[in-house]
Amino acid sequence: MSRNNSFFRRVSAIYFIDDVCIFQINAPSTIDFKDIFYYIVIVLMRKDLFKFGGKIMFKPIVYNEYRENNYVTVLQQLTSLIDGETDLIANLANAAALLNQFLTEVNWVGFYLWKDNELVLGPFQGLPACIRIPYGKGVCGTAIAERKTQLVPNVHEFPGHIVCDAASQSEIVIPMIKEDTIIGVLDIDSPIKDRFDTIDQRHLEKFVNILLTQIV
Ligand code: SME
Repeated sequence: MSRNNSFFRRVSAIYFIDDVCIFQINAPSTIDFKDIFYYIVIVLMRKDLFKFGGKIMFKPIVYNEYRENNYVTVLQQLTSLIDGETDLIANLANAAALLNQFLTEVNWVGFYLWKDNELVLGPFQGLPACIRIPYGKGVCGTAIAERKTQLVPNVHEFPGHIVCDAASQSEIVIPMIKEDTIIGVLDIDSPIKDRFDTIDQRHLEKFVNILLTQIV
């Protein structure tokens, strides 16, 4: 479906709140009933997701061209996947798999967990990676030391960057901190420079916050 399709000219956003689907229609447009087919397809796709998400099977969906909307969908998928599950490793494993099938142009997606004052490799998708990262070292250790997201457009210009996959060119690391307790980091690498921006940052921070709600 191209952006010139009349459906996408009319619909500026699609939101899902639980099972309720809300279409935001561009003013002064009114609903074109010829487009009703698209509305029904989208609602049915989401019904499947809510029915199967995290309970029976994960049903991959086709993400559209609207990046922010896609992130909203992924946040809902994550919420559904971890609903009622408090096992940290299980939730992080599914979270890494979810991000890996969603994000384009990434070569490593995963978690490092804080143990005995260092970061230790956790669930991930990608090539085998370095196992231990000291506090304050590399992009991950810096995210912990500064307690804030590190958005790195070019890893070769980041002092002390730790090379795990030589293909990595840019990186984003979000610290996972719950009520002042360090849990770990979410780390994502890309084989292209400047892959991540503040839209990624804002939504990936929400992604981490959803994961933190399940940590007891
Ligand atoms: N580049 C990270 C190390 C982890 S790998 O990218 C998977 C860093 O500098 O902390």
